[in-house]
Amino acid sequence: MFDASIYKNRRQALRKKMSNGLILVLGNNEAPANYPDNTYKFRQDSSFLYFFGHSHPGYAGIIDIDNGEEYFFGNDVSMDDIIWMGPQPSIKELAERVGVDKSLPFDQLNVIVGKAISQHRKIHFLPPYRYDNVFLLEELTGIKASMVRHHASIELVKAVVSLRSVKEDCEIVEIDKACNIGYEMHTAAMRLCKPGVSEQYIAGVLEGIAASYGSMTSFATILTQNGQTLHNHDHSHILQEGRLMLTDAGAENINNYCSDNTRTIPVGGKFTNRQCDVYNIVYACHQKALELAKPDVTYMSVHIEVCKVLAHGLKDLGLMKGCIDEAVAAGAHALFMPHGLGHMMGLDVHDMEDLGQQYVGYDDEVRPSSQFGLASLRMGRRLKPGFVMTDEPGCYFIPALIDKWKSEGLHTDYLNYDEIEKFKDFGGIRLEDDILITPEGSRFTGEKHIPIKVEEIEVIMKN
Ligand code: GLY
Repeated sequence: MFDASIYKNRRQALRKKMSNGLILVLGNNEAPANYPDNTYKFRQDSSFLYFFGHSHPGYAGIIDIDNGEEYFFGNDVSMDDIIWMGPQPSIKELAERVGVDKSLPFDQLNVIVGKAISQHRKIHFLPPYRYDNVFLLEELTGIKASMVRHHASIELVKAVVSLRSVKEDCEIVEIDKACNIGYEMHTAAMRLCKPGVSEQYIAGVLEGIAASYGSMTSFATILTQNGQTLHNHDHSHILQEGRLMLTDAGAENINNYCSDNTRTIPVGGKFTNRQCDVYNIVYACHQKALELAKPDVTYMSVHIEVCKVLAHGLKDLGLMKGCIDEAVAAGAHALFMPHGLGHMMGLDVHDMEDLGQQYVGYDDEVRPSSQFGLASLRMGRRLKPGFVMTDEPGCYFIPALIDKWKSEGLHTDYLNYDEIEKFKDFGGIRLEDDILITPEGSRFTGEKHIPIKVEEIEVIMKN
């Protein structure tokens, strides 16, 4: 946790951005896995963490926009709790640790919110994504559970996004720490990636590293020799010589900040010439993003320039043809990269995705596209110093997609289907790093850069 002043300043800044009424920030509760007392690892809501700091189930916070009063809600532990969990700080002490004067038992939330509603005051809440909070909001506000998300406050969403998008120095320190854990995870994967080893074994080692240095993985690990499937969580294969192993994995550090990196490496330690050719195109894309990402540039334009690098490279390999600017404008390259260049990262690996991508990644100036591929770009708007972004280009040969486009005769002016057919057994390559936008440009996050050049990877895999 940070010093109380950090949370106080954030709440004050939030209040200043809002018109009137109450801001209600709900924490998360335990989520049962297979019976009520056997729960998934607890994960606090990120906006609650941001404004009220504490990572424990059963809390809520209120900020009164009109008079500045703040409340922290939760229940003091009973003797039974002490017997099973040990002594716990009181709710009053917890509130003080984040600079809140008023602490109340959880059932008083109903009283404070009910009173505000009876006075026709606005209750601002964020879009809930957990069903228990949907039902709690129904109970508190009287809005039917099925309609609660539609009544989330857009004013509050926009205010929270504007604050959380620009990372404070203390947050950047935490993201760097999470990336240091990511370094350990990815270099371990490089050392373990040998023919005959199971994907599951390496994925398990990575998750152990994340848990042992920090909190847990920042999302479900993707580790596969079938990297053509973008989010492949199937770890059931035994690695085979000659295949590529794609690892997209990250850590959440002890203070819940995330990392997210991807490397694609040759099982057995040596890239074939064909793998090397495609790898170096994706690497050039990755470097292009790093070169272009800086304040005031839209991430949409960075994405498009990166796609041109990909298309030029594939044209050189004989897989694409024609005018590359036109091919990219038409979306032909999306056969090979049907996803966006990156997303924001912070307390969530896809930072603030629960608040709505149209508010996090887009604004009045840069609107989401509906074109296949570009539609999956999570972040298009102008960059600012303090934004933390992922830079994650890829090149995939997805047999079913190739068959579909070919049978439909899509983009035949730009795609050499006869040559593309020969790559249907290739798999996929993605390279991903996390970058901080600085006043001058950008920098990688984390102290050490995970090996990425062909030579660097072959060296670490050999040793
Ligand atoms: N790295 C996983 C994702 O961005 O979804």
